[in-house]
Amino acid sequence: MEKLKQILRPIYLPLINYKASKLYKQYSLIKNFIVDYKLYKNYSIVFSKQDLLNKEADLILNYHSIEKGMLFKDTKKGFATNRIKNLHKLLNDPEIIKNINRSQIKVGYQVICKYYEMHKNEGYNIEHIFSQKQYEKYKSVLKTEYSDDFNGVINWDKEKFYEFTSQDFFKFAYSRKSVREFTGELIQIDLIQKAITLANTAPSVCNRQASNVYLIEDKKKIDEILNIQGGFTGYTKNVNQLLILTNDRKFYYTVGERNQFYIDGGIYLMNLLYALHYYKIGNCPANWGKKIDEEKKLDKVISIPESEKIICLIPIGELKDKFRTTLSKRRPITENFQKL
Ligand SMILES: Cc1cc2nc3c(=O)[nH]c(=O)nc-3n(C[C@H](O)[C@H](O)[C@H](O)COP(=O)(O)O)c2cc1C
Repeated sequence: MEKLKQILRPIYLPLINYKASKLYKQYSLIKNFIVDYKLYKNYSIVFSKQDLLNKEADLILNYHSIEKGMLFKDTKKGFATNRIKNLHKLLNDPEIIKNINRSQIKVGYQVICKYYEMHKNEGYNIEHIFSQKQYEKYKSVLKTEYSDDFNGVINWDKEKFYEFTSQDFFKFAYSRKSVREFTGELIQIDLIQKAITLANTAPSVCNRQASNVYLIEDKKKIDEILNIQGGFTGYTKNVNQLLILTNDRKFYYTVGERNQFYIDGGIYLMNLLYALHYYKIGNCPANWGKKIDEEKKLDKVISIPESEKIICLIPIGELKDKFRTTLSKRRPITENFQKL
């Protein structure tokens, strides 16, 4: 055996060295990124919306935008017209109608019916984008699930909202919501620091703790950043403090970990949202699923080291005495849990 090993040594040693070489690792990284690329291309809704789940994702994107529009007290006549057009297309799709029992499809019909009713109550005529015939059809698809009590938004008062912040996790987790309405008052820095200290309890791969949080208080910069972000339009007026969560690529060491910073960053984000809620700091994550173009624009406003990936922006602030949040209805576990 020893002899055989000695004979084979000149063959396998260079192979081992090759596998440890920079060249092989680069090849492996490219190969893996190509597979990532193919999977994303094949299954996300960037290129195709054929599959039921793709259609459902598209539906959620559109109905959630309507929910967000409903948060405004003085909604404009026919707001989010494009979203309504998209929803008509989706909600008349036979496959979507057939799957009315899926929670997110049902709520799509409920939200659009509410949109129609809101306009009717205001005396606004929107027949050109949403006819009564369409409204009646959606109600008939909903059958007994239709209720004129349905609301796409939840009205809160601040005291009630924070009622469960010191309660057991069950009540605490159900009480956290994304809030987009702030008074404009600044949160004290020591309270923010307490929240970050609590968020630092987040687990991370091998305890590498690669997450960083930046605080921006310069209103001009905040507005510029949120303008690039684009998903907070209409809510930015009283945002005077913005957290930026990043995760540093410098902490990752294998090709297999190429997406680990998103995972660790995501875990940290959730812990941070809970920590902010615990300390009664109003907050709403604002996505940074952006392309290089937007990253370049951001570079002109603030400087974040190149090695760090922005995971999320989080506008924070003092909550108003009365405010609204979106319903953001959750799935039942029958839709996302199964034994294999
Ligand atoms: C990563 C991430 C990005 C988000 N981006 C935005 C955003 O750009 N604008 C916004 O208004 N809400 C954003 N949200 C908030 C979601 O709409 C919200 O979490 C979802 O509807 C569930 O509602 P809840 O947080 O109140 O439970 C984001 C949430 C997450 C987790």
